[in-house]
Amino acid sequence: MGNAVFAKDILAGKVAFVTGGGTGITGGIARAFAEHGAKVAITSRKMENLVAMKEQIESKGGECFAVSSDVRDYAAVEAAIAATVEHFGKIDIVVNGAAGNFLCRAEELSANGFGVVVDIDTKGTFNVCRAAFEELRKNQGQILNISATLHYLATPMQIHVSAAKAGVDAITRNLSVEWGRYGIRVNGIAPGPIEDTEGMKRLVPEEVKEKLLSRIPIQRFGRISDIENAALFLCSDAASYINGVTLVVDGGHWLTGTSLF
Ligand code: HXC
Repeated sequence: MGNAVFAKDILAGKVAFVTGGGTGITGGIARAFAEHGAKVAITSRKMENLVAMKEQIESKGGECFAVSSDVRDYAAVEAAIAATVEHFGKIDIVVNGAAGNFLCRAEELSANGFGVVVDIDTKGTFNVCRAAFEELRKNQGQILNISATLHYLATPMQIHVSAAKAGVDAITRNLSVEWGRYGIRVNGIAPGPIEDTEGMKRLVPEEVKEKLLSRIPIQRFGRISDIENAALFLCSDAASYINGVTLVVDGGHWLTGTSLF
Protein backbone atom coordinates (compact mmCIF):
# COMPACT_ATOMS: atom_id res chain seq x y z
CA MET A 1 0.00 0.00 0.00
CA GLY A 2 3.04 2.23 0.04
CA ASN A 3 2.06 4.60 2.84
CA ALA A 4 5.21 4.29 4.92
CA VAL A 5 5.99 7.98 4.41
CA PHE A 6 3.57 9.11 7.12
CA ALA A 7 3.67 8.49 10.87
CA LYS A 8 1.11 5.83 11.77
CA ASP A 9 -0.73 8.10 14.21
CA ILE A 10 -1.33 11.21 12.09
CA LEU A 11 -5.10 10.67 12.19
CA ALA A 12 -5.29 9.24 15.71
CA GLY A 13 -8.51 10.23 17.47
CA LYS A 14 -10.28 11.19 14.24
CA VAL A 15 -13.45 9.67 12.83
CA ALA A 16 -13.84 9.68 9.04
CA PHE A 17 -17.05 9.13 7.05
CA VAL A 18 -16.16 7.89 3.55
CA THR A 19 -18.70 7.57 0.72
CA GLY A 20 -17.92 5.00 -1.94
CA GLY A 21 -15.68 3.56 0.75
CA GLY A 22 -16.17 -0.09 -0.17
CA THR A 23 -14.04 -0.18 -3.31
CA GLY A 24 -11.52 1.58 -5.53
CA ILE A 25 -9.87 4.87 -4.71
CA THR A 26 -12.12 5.74 -1.80
CA GLY A 27 -11.88 2.22 -0.43
CA GLY A 28 -8.11 2.77 -0.43
CA ILE A 29 -8.52 6.09 1.37
CA ALA A 30 -10.68 4.43 4.05
CA ARG A 31 -8.09 1.68 4.52
CA ALA A 32 -5.21 4.17 4.65
CA PHE A 33 -7.03 6.39 7.15
CA ALA A 34 -7.63 3.38 9.40
CA GLU A 35 -3.95 2.42 9.12
CA HIS A 36 -3.07 5.92 10.29
CA GLY A 37 -5.19 5.95 13.42
CA ALA A 38 -8.66 7.05 12.28
CA LYS A 39 -11.87 5.17 12.95
CA VAL A 40 -13.66 4.92 9.62
CA ALA A 41 -17.29 4.67 8.61
CA ILE A 42 -17.80 3.53 5.04
CA THR A 43 -20.98 3.85 3.03
CA SER A 44 -22.19 2.91 -0.44
CA ARG A 45 -25.21 1.29 -2.01
CA LYS A 46 -23.76 -2.23 -1.92
CA MET A 47 -23.45 -3.74 1.53
CA GLU A 48 -21.39 -6.67 0.18
CA ASN A 49 -18.60 -4.29 -0.91
CA LEU A 50 -18.70 -2.58 2.47
CA VAL A 51 -18.49 -5.84 4.39
CA ALA A 52 -15.43 -6.94 2.39
CA MET A 53 -13.63 -3.65 3.07
CA LYS A 54 -14.62 -3.70 6.74
CA GLU A 55 -13.09 -7.17 7.08
CA GLN A 56 -9.92 -5.98 5.34
CA ILE A 57 -9.60 -2.98 7.65
CA GLU A 58 -10.34 -4.99 10.80
CA SER A 59 -7.88 -7.73 9.82
CA LYS A 60 -5.16 -5.08 10.13
CA GLY A 61 -6.36 -3.91 13.52
CA GLY A 62 -8.40 -0.95 12.31
CA GLU A 63 -11.89 0.08 13.39
CA CYS A 64 -14.59 0.23 10.73
CA PHE A 65 -18.35 0.76 10.68
CA ALA A 66 -20.26 -0.15 7.53
CA VAL A 67 -23.58 1.52 6.77
CA SER A 68 -25.34 1.35 3.41
CA SER A 69 -26.85 4.46 1.84
CA ASP A 70 -27.43 6.04 -1.54
CA VAL A 71 -25.90 9.53 -1.55
CA ARG A 72 -28.70 10.73 -3.86
CA ASP A 73 -31.19 10.19 -1.05
CA TYR A 74 -30.82 12.96 1.55
CA ALA A 75 -32.82 11.14 4.23
CA ALA A 76 -30.64 8.04 3.78
CA VAL A 77 -27.48 10.15 4.07
CA GLU A 78 -28.77 11.79 7.24
CA ALA A 79 -29.53 8.36 8.69
CA ALA A 80 -26.05 7.02 7.80
CA ILE A 81 -24.42 10.03 9.43
CA ALA A 82 -26.59 9.68 12.55
CA ALA A 83 -25.73 5.97 12.75
CA THR A 84 -22.02 6.80 12.48
CA VAL A 85 -22.25 9.40 15.25
CA GLU A 86 -24.09 6.90 17.39
CA HIS A 87 -21.43 4.26 16.70
CA PHE A 88 -18.23 6.33 16.97
CA GLY A 89 -19.50 9.40 18.87
CA LYS A 90 -18.59 12.01 16.24
CA ILE A 91 -17.37 12.75 12.70
CA ASP A 92 -14.25 14.82 11.97
CA ILE A 93 -13.57 14.07 8.31
CA VAL A 94 -15.91 13.53 5.37
CA VAL A 95 -14.60 12.03 2.14
CA ASN A 96 -16.94 12.25 -0.85
CA GLY A 97 -15.95 9.49 -3.22
CA ALA A 98 -19.20 7.96 -4.43
CA ALA A 99 -19.32 8.46 -8.20
CA GLY A 100 -20.98 7.13 -11.33
CA ASN A 101 -19.32 6.78 -14.69
CA PHE A 102 -19.54 5.27 -18.14
CA LEU A 103 -18.38 6.23 -21.61
CA CYS A 104 -21.12 7.65 -23.83
CA ARG A 105 -21.23 10.07 -26.73
CA ALA A 106 -23.22 13.22 -25.94
CA GLU A 107 -25.62 12.58 -28.84
CA GLU A 108 -26.40 9.10 -27.50
CA LEU A 109 -26.69 10.02 -23.82
CA SER A 110 -30.20 10.17 -22.37
CA ALA A 111 -31.30 12.98 -20.09
CA ASN A 112 -31.60 10.40 -17.33
CA GLY A 113 -28.06 9.11 -18.01
CA PHE A 114 -26.70 12.66 -17.66
CA GLY A 115 -28.84 13.27 -14.60
CA VAL A 116 -27.92 10.11 -12.75
CA VAL A 117 -24.22 10.97 -12.73
CA VAL A 118 -24.85 14.58 -11.69
CA ASP A 119 -27.15 13.28 -8.96
CA ILE A 120 -24.54 10.89 -7.56
CA ASP A 121 -21.42 13.04 -7.93
CA THR A 122 -22.63 16.61 -7.47
CA LYS A 123 -25.87 16.39 -5.54
CA GLY A 124 -24.50 13.46 -3.54
CA THR A 125 -21.46 15.52 -2.52
CA PHE A 126 -23.67 18.40 -1.43
CA ASN A 127 -26.03 16.06 0.44
CA VAL A 128 -23.23 14.55 2.49
CA CYS A 129 -21.54 17.89 3.23
CA ARG A 130 -24.85 19.43 4.25
CA ALA A 131 -25.92 16.51 6.42
CA ALA A 132 -22.51 16.39 8.15
CA PHE A 133 -22.27 20.15 8.70
CA GLU A 134 -23.24 20.24 12.38
CA GLU A 135 -20.77 17.46 13.22
CA LEU A 136 -17.99 19.11 11.25
CA ARG A 137 -18.65 22.48 12.86
CA LYS A 138 -18.64 20.96 16.32
CA ASN A 139 -15.33 19.20 15.67
CA GLN A 140 -13.60 21.79 13.43
CA GLY A 141 -13.60 19.07 10.83
CA GLN A 142 -12.89 18.85 7.17
CA ILE A 143 -14.16 17.67 3.82
CA LEU A 144 -12.27 15.97 0.99
CA ASN A 145 -14.08 15.79 -2.36
CA ILE A 146 -12.85 13.36 -4.99
CA SER A 147 -13.01 15.07 -8.37
CA ALA A 148 -11.36 14.50 -11.78
CA THR A 149 -9.46 16.45 -14.43
CA LEU A 150 -11.88 15.58 -17.25
CA HIS A 151 -13.44 19.06 -17.32
CA TYR A 152 -10.21 21.08 -17.33
CA LEU A 153 -10.10 20.74 -21.12
CA ALA A 154 -12.84 18.72 -22.83
CA THR A 155 -13.12 14.95 -22.66
CA PRO A 156 -15.32 13.36 -25.32
CA MET A 157 -17.78 10.72 -24.10
CA GLN A 158 -17.58 12.23 -20.62
CA ILE A 159 -19.93 15.23 -20.82
CA HIS A 160 -21.98 13.94 -17.89
CA VAL A 161 -18.99 13.32 -15.62
CA SER A 162 -17.25 16.53 -16.70
CA ALA A 163 -20.32 18.57 -15.77
CA ALA A 164 -20.74 16.65 -12.52
CA LYS A 165 -17.12 17.06 -11.42
CA ALA A 166 -17.06 20.76 -12.39
CA GLY A 167 -19.96 21.04 -9.95
CA VAL A 168 -17.99 19.16 -7.30
CA ASP A 169 -15.09 21.62 -7.71
CA ALA A 170 -17.53 24.51 -7.32
CA ILE A 171 -18.82 22.94 -4.09
CA THR A 172 -15.23 22.60 -2.82
CA ARG A 173 -14.50 26.27 -3.46
CA ASN A 174 -17.83 27.58 -2.17
CA LEU A 175 -17.84 25.61 1.05
CA SER A 176 -14.18 26.44 1.73
CA VAL A 177 -15.21 30.10 1.76
CA GLU A 178 -18.56 29.72 3.52
CA TRP A 179 -17.43 27.23 6.17
CA GLY A 180 -13.84 28.33 6.75
CA ARG A 181 -15.17 30.63 9.48
CA TYR A 182 -16.36 27.54 11.37
CA GLY A 183 -12.89 26.00 11.24
CA ILE A 184 -13.93 23.55 8.54
CA ARG A 185 -11.40 23.02 5.74
CA VAL A 186 -12.73 21.87 2.37
CA ASN A 187 -10.38 20.46 -0.26
CA GLY A 188 -10.42 18.05 -3.16
CA ILE A 189 -8.26 15.61 -5.07
CA ALA A 190 -8.43 15.21 -8.84
CA PRO A 191 -6.94 11.80 -9.65
CA GLY A 192 -5.65 10.97 -13.10
CA PRO A 193 -5.88 7.44 -14.54
CA ILE A 194 -5.47 5.11 -11.56
CA GLU A 195 -4.79 1.44 -12.25
CA ASP A 196 -6.86 -1.35 -10.68
CA THR A 197 -9.99 0.79 -10.37
CA GLU A 198 -13.50 0.45 -11.76
CA GLY A 199 -13.13 3.91 -13.31
CA MET A 200 -10.07 2.81 -15.30
CA LYS A 201 -11.86 -0.36 -16.43
CA ARG A 202 -14.86 1.63 -17.61
CA LEU A 203 -13.07 4.59 -19.18
CA VAL A 204 -9.89 3.17 -20.66
CA PRO A 205 -10.47 0.25 -23.04
CA GLU A 206 -7.40 -2.01 -23.53
CA GLU A 207 -6.80 -0.65 -27.06
CA VAL A 208 -6.19 2.92 -25.86
CA LYS A 209 -4.07 2.08 -22.81
CA GLU A 210 -0.69 2.50 -24.57
CA LYS A 211 -1.78 5.81 -26.09
CA LEU A 212 -2.87 7.04 -22.69
CA LEU A 213 0.36 5.92 -21.04
CA SER A 214 2.40 7.80 -23.65
CA ARG A 215 0.65 11.00 -22.54
CA ILE A 216 1.52 10.70 -18.88
CA PRO A 217 4.74 12.64 -18.24
CA ILE A 218 5.64 10.47 -15.21
CA GLN A 219 5.26 7.44 -17.54
CA ARG A 220 3.18 5.20 -15.37
CA PHE A 221 -0.45 4.94 -14.40
CA GLY A 222 -1.38 6.19 -10.97
CA ARG A 223 -1.74 3.81 -8.06
CA ILE A 224 -4.44 3.88 -5.42
CA SER A 225 -1.63 4.49 -2.92
CA ASP A 226 -0.80 7.77 -4.73
CA ILE A 227 -4.28 9.02 -3.92
CA GLU A 228 -4.16 7.60 -0.39
CA ASN A 229 -0.99 9.60 0.27
CA ALA A 230 -2.51 12.83 -1.06
CA ALA A 231 -5.61 12.25 1.08
CA LEU A 232 -3.55 11.55 4.20
CA PHE A 233 -1.62 14.76 3.65
CA LEU A 234 -4.68 16.94 3.00
CA CYS A 235 -6.58 15.53 5.98
CA SER A 236 -3.64 15.81 8.38
CA ASP A 237 -2.50 18.82 10.40
CA ALA A 238 0.32 19.26 7.87
CA ALA A 239 -2.32 20.84 5.62
CA SER A 240 -3.96 23.01 8.26
CA TYR A 241 -3.63 26.17 6.12
CA ILE A 242 -4.76 24.51 2.89
CA ASN A 243 -8.39 25.32 2.11
CA GLY A 244 -10.37 25.41 -1.14
CA VAL A 245 -7.76 23.53 -3.15
CA THR A 246 -8.29 20.61 -5.51
CA LEU A 247 -4.97 18.82 -5.69
CA VAL A 248 -4.30 17.20 -9.06
CA VAL A 249 -2.64 13.80 -8.66
CA ASP A 250 -2.18 12.63 -12.24
CA GLY A 251 1.54 12.52 -13.05
CA GLY A 252 1.03 15.66 -15.17
CA HIS A 253 -1.42 13.93 -17.51
CA TRP A 254 -4.09 16.58 -18.00
CA LEU A 255 -1.53 19.12 -19.18
CA THR A 256 -0.84 16.95 -22.22
CA GLY A 257 -4.49 16.89 -23.35
CA THR A 258 -7.16 14.45 -22.30
CA SER A 259 -8.86 13.34 -25.52
CA LEU A 260 -8.33 9.70 -26.46
CA PHE A 261 -11.25 9.21 -28.80
C1 HXC B 1 -25.20 5.00 -21.63
C2 HXC B 1 -26.04 4.60 -19.51
C3 HXC B 1 -24.98 3.69 -19.23
C4 HXC B 1 -24.02 3.46 -20.27
C5 HXC B 1 -26.26 3.82 -17.47
N1 HXC B 1 -26.80 4.64 -18.41
N2 HXC B 1 -25.16 3.22 -17.97
N3 HXC B 1 -26.15 5.25 -20.69
N4 HXC B 1 -24.17 4.15 -21.44
N5 HXC B 1 -23.02 2.62 -20.10
C6 HXC B 1 -28.02 5.39 -18.29
C7 HXC B 1 -29.21 4.46 -18.31
O1 HXC B 1 -29.56 4.11 -19.64
C8 HXC B 1 -30.29 5.25 -17.62
O2 HXC B 1 -30.92 6.17 -18.48
C9 HXC B 1 -29.50 6.06 -16.62
O3 HXC B 1 -28.12 6.06 -17.05
C10 HXC B 1 -29.55 5.44 -15.24
O4 HXC B 1 -29.13 4.10 -15.33
P1 HXC B 1 -29.42 3.04 -14.17
O5 HXC B 1 -28.70 1.79 -14.49
O6 HXC B 1 -30.88 2.99 -13.90
O7 HXC B 1 -28.77 3.80 -12.94
P2 HXC B 1 -28.19 3.29 -11.61
O8 HXC B 1 -28.41 1.84 -11.39
O9 HXC B 1 -28.69 4.22 -10.58
O10 HXC B 1 -26.61 3.53 -11.76
C11 HXC B 1 -25.96 3.67 -12.96
C12 HXC B 1 -24.54 4.17 -12.72
C13 HXC B 1 -23.65 2.97 -12.59
C14 HXC B 1 -24.45 4.94 -11.43
C15 HXC B 1 -24.20 5.09 -13.82
O11 HXC B 1 -23.72 2.20 -13.74
C16 HXC B 1 -22.21 3.35 -12.36
O12 HXC B 1 -21.64 4.28 -12.86
N6 HXC B 1 -21.53 2.59 -11.62
C17 HXC B 1 -20.09 2.75 -11.58
C18 HXC B 1 -19.57 3.21 -10.34
C19 HXC B 1 -18.10 3.56 -10.59
O13 HXC B 1 -17.40 2.91 -11.33
N7 HXC B 1 -17.62 4.61 -9.94
C20 HXC B 1 -16.26 5.06 -10.19
C21 HXC B 1 -16.31 6.17 -11.13
S1 HXC B 1 -14.72 6.56 -11.69
P3 HXC B 1 -32.33 5.84 -19.21
O14 HXC B 1 -32.62 7.06 -20.02
O15 HXC B 1 -32.10 4.63 -20.04
O16 HXC B 1 -33.31 5.62 -18.09
C22 HXC B 1 -14.66 8.15 -11.98
C23 HXC B 1 -13.30 8.55 -12.43
C24 HXC B 1 -13.30 9.69 -13.36
O17 HXC B 1 -15.56 8.87 -11.80
C25 HXC B 1 -11.88 10.04 -13.79
C26 HXC B 1 -11.07 8.92 -14.36
C27 HXC B 1 -9.85 9.37 -15.19
